[in-house]
Amino acid sequence: MTDTLTIRRPDDWHLHLRDDAMLSLVAPFTAERFGRAIVMPNLVPPVTTVAAAKAYRQRILEAVGDAGPFEPLMTAYLTDTIDPEEVARGHEEGVFMACKLYPAGATTNSDAGVTDIRNIDPVLAQMAALGMPLLVHGEVVDADIDIFDREKVFLERVLAPTLERFPDLKVVLEHITTADSVEFVQAGGERLAATVTAHHLRIDRNDILVGGIKPHMYCLPVAKRARHKEALREAVASGSPKLFLGTDSAPHARPAKESGCGCAGIFSAPVGIESYAQTFDELGCLEKLEGFASLHGPRFYGLAPNEGTITLERAPFEVPARIDPEGQDLTPFHAGERLGWRLAR
Ligand code: DOR
Ligand code: ZN
Repeated sequence: MTDTLTIRRPDDWHLHLRDDAMLSLVAPFTAERFGRAIVMPNLVPPVTTVAAAKAYRQRILEAVGDAGPFEPLMTAYLTDTIDPEEVARGHEEGVFMACKLYPAGATTNSDAGVTDIRNIDPVLAQMAALGMPLLVHGEVVDADIDIFDREKVFLERVLAPTLERFPDLKVVLEHITTADSVEFVQAGGERLAATVTAHHLRIDRNDILVGGIKPHMYCLPVAKRARHKEALREAVASGSPKLFLGTDSAPHARPAKESGCGCAGIFSAPVGIESYAQTFDELGCLEKLEGFASLHGPRFYGLAPNEGTITLERAPFEVPARIDPEGQDLTPFHAGERLGWRLAR
């Protein structure tokens, strides 16, 4: 049995770091594990300008302190009215790595998002020309579409036509939750990839709803039936270079989660690589973890893999039930559980 596993330092290709005191608390968890992360721009107000992204990047670096080495990769939040020139300038200056598409109303802080993807055609054309990836929250928001079908319908109604209209646009379908998305991404060309969260590899909708409602298992896109989770597990175990790690770690304080109208988001940064290691081990494919966590993402983005390594060891890792209970009050993914892999110090 493998008892230690050394891999190139991984990257997190989808992460929420928030701001202020929450940022200070959560950023070190990521920086201890990952070399880089694609940082989501859904702050209030959202990150829509080069100046805002630069300032946010600086605050992140201050929050990380000496927990790194860690490089935040910044994204622009697309709105109906965002200026394509601002996006292009941000990319050329090395500030914006990618742009994030939130369909308006789809999730946390998405009110300023895009109401109809055709509204941003000029930006998409600009991005395709620059080779700048579009990162997609792939859910429709139509009231008549069942929440468990929103990702599948998005593929048909929005993503497929957009890929057709912009044949050179690079797209990452983020945090995929369905067998349909796996198939869709596998069938797309090289310019299409997807991220998979640690939690969607481990939970299905029963984990949210059976035996009482579990607000800390609620995120968007919401976890689906068990067969979809199985399809995701099988897909990452296949070693497909089109799939890579994106935790979508999304901290919300406990009162905001345990509420009559609880926020969507699972805070997984404290177990950000360990949970995946556990899953890959269960799947008997630990040798595929490095590709998924450290190699496929950089290849898609046209970056070199990180220079350093991390070592995981097969040893009990007791995940705390609460983090900073008197302050930000977070409940992490795997709260109170024992994992079989931990970071070697
Ligand atoms: O569960 C989620 N939480 N999904 C998202 O798309 C946004 C995120 C957040 O920002 O809390
Ligand atoms: Zn997210």
